[in-house]
Amino acid sequence: MGRLEERVAIVTGAASGIGRATAIRLAEEAAKVVVADLDGDGAATVCDEIRRAGGTAISMRCDVADEPQVQAVVERACNEFGGLDILHNNAAALGPAAPGRDVDVADLDVDMWDRTMAVNLRGVMLGCKHAIPAMLSGTGGSIINTSSGSAEVGDLTNPAYATSKGGVNTFTLQVAAQYGKRGIRCNAIAPGLVLSHGVERFGGQRYVDMLEEHHLTPRVGVPGDIANAVLFLASDESSFVTGQILRVDGGILSHAPPVADLRRMAR
Ligand SMILES: NC(=O)c1ccc[n+]([C@@H]2O[C@H](COP(=O)([O-])OP(=O)(O)OC[C@H]3O[C@@H](n4cnc5c(N)ncnc54)[C@H](O)[C@@H]3O)[C@@H](O)[C@H]2O)c1
Repeated sequence: MGRLEERVAIVTGAASGIGRATAIRLAEEAAKVVVADLDGDGAATVCDEIRRAGGTAISMRCDVADEPQVQAVVERACNEFGGLDILHNNAAALGPAAPGRDVDVADLDVDMWDRTMAVNLRGVMLGCKHAIPAMLSGTGGSIINTSSGSAEVGDLTNPAYATSKGGVNTFTLQVAAQYGKRGIRCNAIAPGLVLSHGVERFGGQRYVDMLEEHHLTPRVGVPGDIANAVLFLASDESSFVTGQILRVDGGILSHAPPVADLRRMAR
């Protein structure tokens, strides 16, 4: 008996990384999963993986910034699987997807800013907007948005990305407040460094090693760490948890800034 028996889930940005791991994890727990991504071929590959392992899934190409496409994904989930219980709003335009463009504020490319907001923030809003009526027509549901620790701190790069994730945190609270009494929970997960594509995306091994020193855990994150947290928030085990921004980040934002330096000095 899986922990998500009879549940229907949509995972966006599910062709790779955290979304892929989550779609597979939810399916392992018997959810019927809609694997949605801008990369339609990648989504189909993940869908095949789930089916080969004995799970139930369909895939759809979807740009989460586009309302009719998001609406179509929700409708397909309801038509094929009979309802909707879980939405993982995970797709994002990542900083590295716009190399060199999400940098100093005075040099920001306005088109890049608008696209980042459209995918990362409007996409989350659209997912909620269309999933909520479907969930309300059933027994309620759980929405899990992927935020980022970068929403909480200033940094030398990625101001558009970080600001979009700050919006995701605020929007999460709005949904939780408006629909909690009607059986819909809404939480966000703020991952830290998750090696969804090896070390290269993060500037190589040296950079990752430096960041690892700032974690309280012996390692940085892997996609399965986030997938397990999504599973918890999707399941009834978290039925008293809503309106939370859950950091899943190895404690990188939970210590005094000089901790890594102090550790080094003590060696
Ligand atoms: N990897 C990390 O260290 C990290 C840290 C903090 C937050 N996050 C967040 O986790 C989530 C997943 O990141 P990841 O590391 O797995 O990256 P990833 O690149 O592996 O996955 C992102 C997926 O989103 C899809 N996507 C991009 N734009 C889309 C759109 N408009 N519509 C639909 N799909 C779209 C991509 O095709 C890709 O499959 C993102 O929300 C990201 O901001 C990641």
